[in-house]
Amino acid sequence: MDDLALLRLQIEWGADEALADTPFDRLAERASGARLAVEKTAPPETESPATSPAAALRMDSALSTPSLRSPVAFLGGVNRPAPAQAAALAASCESLEALRAAIAGFEGCALRDTATNLVFSDGNPAAPIMIIGEAPGGEEDRAGRPFVGPSGQLLDRMLGSIGLDRTGVLITNIIPWRPPGNRSPSDVEVATCLPFVMRHIALVAPRHVLLLGATSARALTGNSQGIRRIRGNWYDLEVPGMVERVPALATYHPAYLMRTPSAKREAWNDLISLQERVQDY
Ligand code: URA
Repeated sequence: MDDLALLRLQIEWGADEALADTPFDRLAERASGARLAVEKTAPPETESPATSPAAALRMDSALSTPSLRSPVAFLGGVNRPAPAQAAALAASCESLEALRAAIAGFEGCALRDTATNLVFSDGNPAAPIMIIGEAPGGEEDRAGRPFVGPSGQLLDRMLGSIGLDRTGVLITNIIPWRPPGNRSPSDVEVATCLPFVMRHIALVAPRHVLLLGATSARALTGNSQGIRRIRGNWYDLEVPGMVERVPALATYHPAYLMRTPSAKREAWNDLISLQERVQDY
């Protein structure tokens, strides 16, 4: 394979950012460090490594970490699956600043290692509307702010069409770090980051939530259908730490709308539905 073909292959696999001045031999690293991680965190005999969700979490963590951290450090020194660690950490955060700092220091999601910046939120934390997308792309990763690339520009136009802008909403994502190559986040990554999103909602206490795209809609509503079935409906989100349920509307992701202009009509209906609910503010 020539050099150009190799480079293309790397980009297809998501290796599209230079992280350091000198190359790492990931194969050698994996042969020593990651195998050790799997052995050290091996599940008890009663669990089948192939079928247990907890074992899957450990395997996913161990096999995807590109760092030189020790296995114990990687698990944060606590022998619990990453989502449980995230839930405990999130519950301890009493402010948005504390939540941001907790996520920035969280070692249970390997996406943190390959991202340039944590992408926490943008907009107005006191706004009554919270918008939740999927995960940052390349431009968001570089800027450390959600929805600043092409889909962010479309999102701004969508908000503008119902008289809103970023001073009237708070924007965040299910995943706060860019997945390499803009791949879809895995179920384990979503499960790991979800407690932080839930805490984010509880601390902001929005009156309404807009869920952009299948990853966000599925993760927060628990509805596992396709986005074409989930969208257009309001769901009552039960958020730990909140007394009232939060009404959430699912709609298409702006990136999907850019690829599928015929879906814009339905997205427009969803925006009208949001506008009807929020016009009393
Ligand atoms: N897509 C998302 O879901 N979130 C961003 O921040 C950018 C693109």
